Amino acid sequence: MGYISVAIDGPSGAGKSTVARAAAARLGYVYVDTGAMYRAIGLAVCRRGISGEDAAGIAAALPEIEIRLAYQDGAQRVLLNDEDVSDAIRTPEIAHYASKVSAVPEVRQFLLDVQRDMAKKGNILMDGRDIGTVILPDAPVKIFLTASAETRAERRYLELAEKGQQVTRESVLHDIVERDRQDMTRAVAPLRQAEDAVLLDTSEMTLEESIDAVLQIIRKKTEDQTK
Ligand code: DC
Repeated sequence: MGYISVAIDGPSGAGKSTVARAAAARLGYVYVDTGAMYRAIGLAVCRRGISGEDAAGIAAALPEIEIRLAYQDGAQRVLLNDEDVSDAIRTPEIAHYASKVSAVPEVRQFLLDVQRDMAKKGNILMDGRDIGTVILPDAPVKIFLTASAETRAERRYLELAEKGQQVTRESVLHDIVERDRQDMTRAVAPLRQAEDAVLLDTSEMTLEESIDAVLQIIRKKTEDQTK
């Protein structure tokens, strides 16, 4: 029997990772956060003092970079050359670097194989920007999860403020709008909804409602498959 892949794509701050992680846990699927992989490469590039604009320099650094996902008590940990960087990658600076490195074709190719391999090993729920369009075009379930920029900015602001990071609502909204623009207009694998993806707008939904809505879509699609 083949494994089931669920592809969840959408812009930053739509609550994708929280919703996807919870949905995967309830289904007993492995959750794969591909954004964390781009962030880890962003961190590696930042530490080497390479500019986010230096595509050739970023590509040249790839042979020295190894990214792995490990699972500890059900939680995903991101390993950069065996160092656990799960927390270090969650800063606005590294989000910015991640967006830059994700526009470099060599970086996308580098991660494509890793991500496809993970889908061959078990039932997975993978979230990102190009999972339904590029990485797993044959996934039986595809969801495009989004919310208004204002809603996403407010959620991200609360999340960062809770972690004690010094940010303003305005700067968070500005970052989100800017990253949307970069992610949607880049030449390789721009963020867009796959034709066969179900659109889910969570602007007016609570977290619990969003998780339920995702689970419902997955159940319906996987039931359709077995009919
Ligand atoms: O989801 P996130 O904020 O952790 O993603 C970090 C960056 O990586 C974001 O700018 C978009 C990019 N990304 C991507 O291009 N493709 C993916 N599959 C996942 C993330």
